Amino acid sequence: MSNTNKKEEQSDLFAGFHTAYKSFATDAIHVGQEPEQWKSMAVVPPISLSTTFKQHSPGKHAGFEYSRSGNPTRNCLEKAVAALDGAKYCLALASGLAATVTITHMLKAGDGIVSMDDVYGGTNRYFQRIAAEVGLDVSFADCTKPQLLKAALKPNTKLVWIETPTNPMMKVVDIKACSDLVHEHNKDIVVVVDNTFMSAYFQRPLALGADICMYSATKYMNGHSDVVMGLVSMNREDLYERLKFLQNALGSVPSPFDCFLCNRGLKTLHLRMERHFKNALAVAKFLEADPRVEHVLYPGLPSHPQYEVMKRQCTGCPGMIAFDIKGKLEHATTFLSNLKMFAIAESLGGYESLAEHPAIMTHASVPENERNVLGISDTLIRLSVGLEDEADIIEDLDQALAAAHPKK
Ligand SMILES: Cc1ncc(COP(=O)(O)O)c(C=O)c1O
Repeated sequence: MSNTNKKEEQSDLFAGFHTAYKSFATDAIHVGQEPEQWKSMAVVPPISLSTTFKQHSPGKHAGFEYSRSGNPTRNCLEKAVAALDGAKYCLALASGLAATVTITHMLKAGDGIVSMDDVYGGTNRYFQRIAAEVGLDVSFADCTKPQLLKAALKPNTKLVWIETPTNPMMKVVDIKACSDLVHEHNKDIVVVVDNTFMSAYFQRPLALGADICMYSATKYMNGHSDVVMGLVSMNREDLYERLKFLQNALGSVPSPFDCFLCNRGLKTLHLRMERHFKNALAVAKFLEADPRVEHVLYPGLPSHPQYEVMKRQCTGCPGMIAFDIKGKLEHATTFLSNLKMFAIAESLGGYESLAEHPAIMTHASVPENERNVLGISDTLIRLSVGLEDEADIIEDLDQALAAAHPKK
């Protein structure tokens, strides 16, 4: 393919979407990575394993005391992520759920949380079975309809939790509309957006009015399925001070080695996301045209109900696709068991293609009646489309569909 054709293909893919953030790749590669910060002038940040740091005299030190409260490798990662989110501050936590727990610890018994109704199963479980148990007033609303979010706000509401696109139903929430209405209601309510599915390359919640952008960095931000980590970014100093206190006081920090890996993963985030988008769009179009498939949920397809919101608030669409296979549970399990290149596995956002059955796997912790309301059916399959060759990905899906629906 000539260079001109390549360019056209690229612009077609992103046509209509919000344009990419300025200097994103340069920031991913350079911010927080300055060689001058190390005596050795190392170009790649070293993994700083020391748990403690020598002080010149009691209380006088070079910025680090004890590795839970601050670590040089973690510092490099946090600075890079803040730049990518267009944020002043970022904090790294031990997992995405540790980030959720740390944020929720800003509340006290009696305070209210309104959460998007379709959220990651572990977030739902934490809110319903832990946060509610310790006296937080947790309720859920379908934030794709901002008026339902408005109706759910109460005088005690302190936190609004949005996930977009949602896991696994790919519902898209208008971040600006929701943040504006929440802040008009009460400017002190903290709006959090779980940006895990989009990564910093495709969506900037803080620029759309959210107060905190959080990630399970286990997914696209690290991108290599070899780190469990959480990240939170923000501009408000008061939130940063409180969350930094909680990061240290609760103690759920990531290891320096994991920080090194995630920091390395960020260097190719833009390249990975563009390829995830290209492969996933091809897969979504293939599935949408296939008679063995009931329907496809991919926010990058014009047929998606919130495609216009996507184009307004995102710079592209990641590799996450959900679809219902025609038939019953047995068709879904036959399809999954016959995949050759895709691994049947939980998680998402790595370079390798994964497939899973949300009702049995990732969302088993969501009560069955709620799964039914949300549409997490027995025939629903979720794909995390990786970075392999497009033709090989589609060939694998095609042969597994043929195994589930053999020609008579
Ligand atoms: C959207 C979303 N948020 C949060 C989490 C929790 O992150 P972690 O597994 O890193 O604790 C996940 C995990 O799958 C997720 O998909």
